[in-house]
Amino acid sequence: MITLALSKGRIFDETLPLLKAAGIEVLEDPEKSRKLILATSNPQVRVVLVRASDVPTYVEHGGADLGVTGKDTLIEHGGQGLYQPLDLNISRCRVSVAVRADFDYASAVRQGSRLKVATKYTHIAREFFASKGVHVDLIKLYGSMELAPLTGLADAIVDLVSTGNTLKANHLVEVERIMDISARLVVNQASLKLKQAAIRPLINAFAQAIEQGSPA
Ligand code: PRP
Repeated sequence: MITLALSKGRIFDETLPLLKAAGIEVLEDPEKSRKLILATSNPQVRVVLVRASDVPTYVEHGGADLGVTGKDTLIEHGGQGLYQPLDLNISRCRVSVAVRADFDYASAVRQGSRLKVATKYTHIAREFFASKGVHVDLIKLYGSMELAPLTGLADAIVDLVSTGNTLKANHLVEVERIMDISARLVVNQASLKLKQAAIRPLINAFAQAIEQGSPA
């Protein structure tokens, strides 16, 4: 049995065409059921639904053989124990710095001010500001980062931006693009050795589907 860890939402939806290219269909819709283990058309493959930030942990410790996870999540996890054979080129977005429209970020940086930065992505933020020589106090949050500058909790946030609509709706502006993000396939290293015959064809089918540009 091969277990694939996915998170609900964009990653699940955009992985479906890749699975289809490998001849695998998920038999249940996670939006309609509360089930966490989903059967597929291949009796040897099942999907487990986990929180996005838990995908690398499941795969690292063998709770799943494979998983699909954003580069952002992978960097925060550290990637230890994970084989990363493919950039799936799905769930594309970016990690950016955003501030209130009336906050003069450029001047604050120029003057060497110490910035309060709220984020879920503390590794990415720490490394980015260190590379710029900007002193920051990081405030770890788990969601709704956009609220931090609006309430005075922070001067800036480091968050994912896709369409930019969430920033706009909260009167925030993007002032730095830190990195582009897409989802990666991660594989448990022991599984890769022990279940080679089942996992390799799956990786190859995904790779071929990406090359042909079939997924969203
Ligand atoms: C992300 C991010 C922003 C939003 C940006 O949240 O945290 O809130 O998407 O997208 P936009 O630029 O298209 O408006 P997500 O929906 O992934 O959930 P999260 O808050 O759990 O991270």
